[in-house]
Parts: sequence; C-alpha cells; structure tokens
Amino acid sequence: MRLVSFWGKGGVGKTTCSAALATGLSEIEGMKVLLLTTDLTPTLSDVLMADLGSSPTRVRGYSNLFALELDERTVLERWKLRFGREVYDVISSFLPVDEGFIDYVAGAPGIAEQFILYVLHEIIGERGYDIVIWDTPASSSSLRLLRIEKELYEHMGEALKMYLRIKGFLDRMRSKESDPLKLIGEWRELAKGIFDMLASDDHSAYIVATPERMSYEISKRIREELSSFGIDVKGVIVNKYIRNSCEDLPKLRRNQDDVAELFLRDFRNVKLLGYYDGEIIGRDALLCFYRDLSPLT
Ligand SMILES: Nc1ncnc2c1ncn2[C@@H]1O[C@H](COP(=O)(O)OP(=O)(O)OP(=O)(O)O)[C@@H](O)[C@H]1O
Ligand SMILES: [Mg+2]
Repeated sequence: MRLVSFWGKGGVGKTTCSAALATGLSEIEGMKVLLLTTDLTPTLSDVLMADLGSSPTRVRGYSNLFALELDERTVLERWKLRFGREVYDVISSFLPVDEGFIDYVAGAPGIAEQFILYVLHEIIGERGYDIVIWDTPASSSSLRLLRIEKELYEHMGEALKMYLRIKGFLDRMRSKESDPLKLIGEWRELAKGIFDMLASDDHSAYIVATPERMSYEISKRIREELSSFGIDVKGVIVNKYIRNSCEDLPKLRRNQDDVAELFLRDFRNVKLLGYYDGEIIGRDALLCFYRDLSPLT
C-alpha cells in the first residue's frame, strides 16, 4: 500500500492536486484509490462535485474511487471505540470513576486533533486499496498535527516513567485487574507506528506551492519540518504558473519566472503547472489537470 500526501500553505492547490491524482489513477490507471482529507473544514466534495461521508465510500460518477472527509465527531467516535475502555481501565484501577469518565476525556479540547493521525493510520491499514491519497489542510495546521503526535508519543514515555515511580503505591490501592503498564506501552507503540509509516518509503510527500517568494520561503520551512520527522519530500508542484506571455502583467510574469528558478535550484523534482482558465472542479476538469500533473517524478 502506498500513501501520497500534499503539503503547502493555504490556497495553493493541495486539494486540487489530491483530487486530480486520485481521479487520474483510478480512471486511467485502473487503481483502487482512497482519497481522504484531514481538513476539518474540507472542500473535497466541492472539488469532486460529489457528496462524501465520514467513512470510505465509493464516489458516485467516478470509477473505483473511494473518498471520505474526516470530521471531528467521527474522530472522537473512533477514539472512544479504540481507547475509551482502555483509558477507563487504567484510571479506574486507582481512582473511583464511573464510565461517564470516557465521555469526559473524549470531550477534552483538542482531543480530535490529537487523534486525527491515529485515525488516518487506522483507515490506511484497512486493506484493499492500491493507493491512499491524503489531502492535508494548510501547512500550519497539518504540521501542528505532526507536532502534537510527537508530543503525545513523548508524553506516553513520561507516563510510563511516572507510573513506574508510583507503581508500588498504586498496586496497594488498585481495585481492578488490568495492566496499565502494558496499555501505556501499547499506546506508545501505536504513536511510534504512525511516524514509522510516515517516514517509510511507502509514503511520498509532495509540497504544493505557487511561484511567489512567500510560497518559496514557506516551502523551505515545510521541507525542513517534515524532514525533522524523518519525512523526505519527493517533489514540489509549483502551481498557478502563468505560462503564456502575459503582456498585461509583465512584473508578475517576471517575478514568477524568478521564483520558478529558485524552486528549480533548491528543490528536486520540481513540476511547473500552468494557470487554468476556469475552475478545476468535477471529473473531466480533474482528469485534464491529472494529465498535466503526471508523472509526478
Ligand atoms: N493551476 C490552477 N489554475 C487555476 N486555478 C487553480 C489552479 N490550481 C488550483 N486552482 C484554484 O485555486 C483555488 C484553491 O485551490 P485548492 O482548494 O486546491 O487549494 P488548497 O491548497 O487545497 O487550499 P486550502 O489550503 O484552503 O485547503 C481553487 O479555486 C482551485 O480551483
Ligand atoms: Mg484544501
């Protein structure tokens, strides 16, 4: 199973690239494709011009394309299903709490953000797709997800140490049979599994940018940050590049050319994509975009 993700600042074309690649691979290459977004205010259904749910469903009007938009409620439900009982077992082994405690923890601010990567990991693990395409939200929030996941991983390490320190005391008060030590260890392993997957060769991360200096600077920062998580950037799509001589806007054209040069100099696998005359929504427009986009390397 392969995972392809698109990263970049707001409005550069991440969703368009994700949807176009997913459409092209499923329609032209005959692959079974899963397209998903972790943008909690998603636009994927608008770009595909199809209704999407919060679990993988075949997209009407497309062949072999499955898609979903993760929403907060779904993430929380999956969290409860996977961790709710275990968290309760750990806490109730030394504190007098009832099962309402699970909802209390699930209602903590930010919990959906903490578990969105876990849910992504879980969905990817569900077999049957040739490729999974991940549309990320604008860079600041998607990089934040990685940071939170890392903090969570480190936090579990701390939790283990803390638990060991007070274990003797807790053993004396424990009322139920459960092994918090083992559970905390498993949670930590899960968090590690997410990073291992993202840093593996099965994952191809692309940056989407526009030919503007600010986008170039942000792209370098994204590359740096991804690399700090062991994620190698496969290539850059410099989108919305005005190809044809644009006599009305000579300065814009010159600036775009200069910045395109910078991208070509500082990144590998740079792909320049033209500015489209018209909105890129719906199957036919996405297929047209796919033809310009591929091959990605
Ligand atoms: N090459 C292009 N030419 C013209 N318009 C484009 C091109 N690529 C994308 N667009 C348009 O730019 C807008 C933003 O694109 P898109 O939604 O894909 O960006 P995004 O990076 O996903 O944004 P966000 O960060 O808000 O999720 C859309 O209206 C899209 O149709
Ligand atoms: Mg988007």
